Amino acid sequence: MKDRSGVLSNLLSAVRIRHVSVKQSEVLAIIGQGYVGLPLAMAAVEAGWTVIGVDNFVAKVELINGGTSPVEDISNEQLQAAISNGTYKATSDFSAVSQASVITICVPTPLDEKREPDLTLLRSAAAGIAPHVSNETLVVSESTSYPGTLRDVIIPIIDKLKSEKSKSLYFACAPERVNPGDTVWNQKNTPRLVGAINDESRSRAVAFYESICDAVVSVSTPEVAEAAKLLENTFRLVNIALINEFTQLCSSNGINVHDVIEAASSKPYGYMPFKPGVGVGGHCIPVDPLYLTWWARQNSNCAEFVESADLINLRMPRYVAGRALDLVSTGIKTPRVLILGVAYKPGVGDVRETPVSALRDHLLAQGAEVAWHDPLVEVWEGSKPVDLKWDCDVAILATLQPEMNLAELFSRETKILDCTNSLSGKAGVSLL
Ligand SMILES: NC(=O)c1ccc[n+]([C@@H]2O[C@H](COP(=O)([O-])OP(=O)(O)OC[C@H]3O[C@@H](n4cnc5c(N)ncnc54)[C@H](O)[C@@H]3O)[C@@H](O)[C@H]2O)c1
Repeated sequence: MKDRSGVLSNLLSAVRIRHVSVKQSEVLAIIGQGYVGLPLAMAAVEAGWTVIGVDNFVAKVELINGGTSPVEDISNEQLQAAISNGTYKATSDFSAVSQASVITICVPTPLDEKREPDLTLLRSAAAGIAPHVSNETLVVSESTSYPGTLRDVIIPIIDKLKSEKSKSLYFACAPERVNPGDTVWNQKNTPRLVGAINDESRSRAVAFYESICDAVVSVSTPEVAEAAKLLENTFRLVNIALINEFTQLCSSNGINVHDVIEAASSKPYGYMPFKPGVGVGGHCIPVDPLYLTWWARQNSNCAEFVESADLINLRMPRYVAGRALDLVSTGIKTPRVLILGVAYKPGVGDVRETPVSALRDHLLAQGAEVAWHDPLVEVWEGSKPVDLKWDCDVAILATLQPEMNLAELFSRETKILDCTNSLSGKAGVSLL
């Protein structure tokens, strides 16, 4: 009986969802115009929405309104088209959200200096929109955070600061899954998780995302959606840690880990290949699992397995530095090391949380002189790149950027430690 009534209630909610339609001439406001917010804005414009992009970084707003996209996944042409046909505009003025029937929050959720969740920006986004949210508006958080953030942090702030006229507001959580630089999966074709605080909020949130995405997966609560996002990224963190640890075990026993990965990948089920590297980087994989470990501690639990994985990845840059310096001829007092690729992954200029920072620090601590080259990064931590003519004793390929032409290094027979397994078999190249 229990099951049958569950099926019926699911069917009823599916029927209700179909009856809620979103008028696409309506206005969507997106708080935060970065790697998540701007692609969402363009996907919504494509789907017929008029979009206001709110960002508190004034210079970025000016750049965007001037037709220059700050993210690789959105071209200047696409942005300029949306601006010139009047379907998109960026602003720093939060009062603009009063025109919106849907508001999505896409602001960063970093770690603080103790490597614990820092919700300052999320709180300030909620406080910024609260006085301007019109009655009957749907507010959705797309920012990644620990379970309970929508219900216990965002909603109380908005409820406290909203105008008296805004009696009925709807709330949902729809964690963003975008993978910057991915040419296959995007906001439209990646299934979207939606968890809402009640049926009406769910109906509206599902209808909104159905207007933009090919598939919407409605889950029972916001906490399920929030936890699912942490599970997805923690899954990556622990598997990367596993292969980083495995790489060190193989290497110290003279086994090529890449051959092992290839061999294991021939199993058609129950195995998924992950690649070793300098560590983990970006705004998600090194960060989100620590929202999980923190949340566990708040509830008197311990996510021991995840904490170990984090430590293994954090130690990887030191291991890579040691392996590279081992390639330098003895007798060279100050080895010159060229790091190739400082962005945290290929195809983007994003250096947030890049493990290459720790790699450089370990090299410097061991007395090396370090320079770097990355065609997608103009300035990194106050320093400028060098070109590939920079004379070095060893180069470390940390991130293979497209258009990175290593012919110059091969012609000089430079020793290269390849952390990406892309130069296998070339003279002078060692693999992790
Ligand atoms: N970048 C990714 O690959 C990715 C993927 C999935 C999910 N996420 C999650 O999405 C969220 C946003 O990440 P992002 O990568 O887009 O960040 P981002 O730094 O690229 O962009 C965020 C923007 O928000 C603006 N901002 C910050 N605080 C604000 C405030 N209070 N009011 C208005 N604007 C504000 C910033 O100026 C910035 O332009 C994070 O929670 C992140 O974990 C990111």
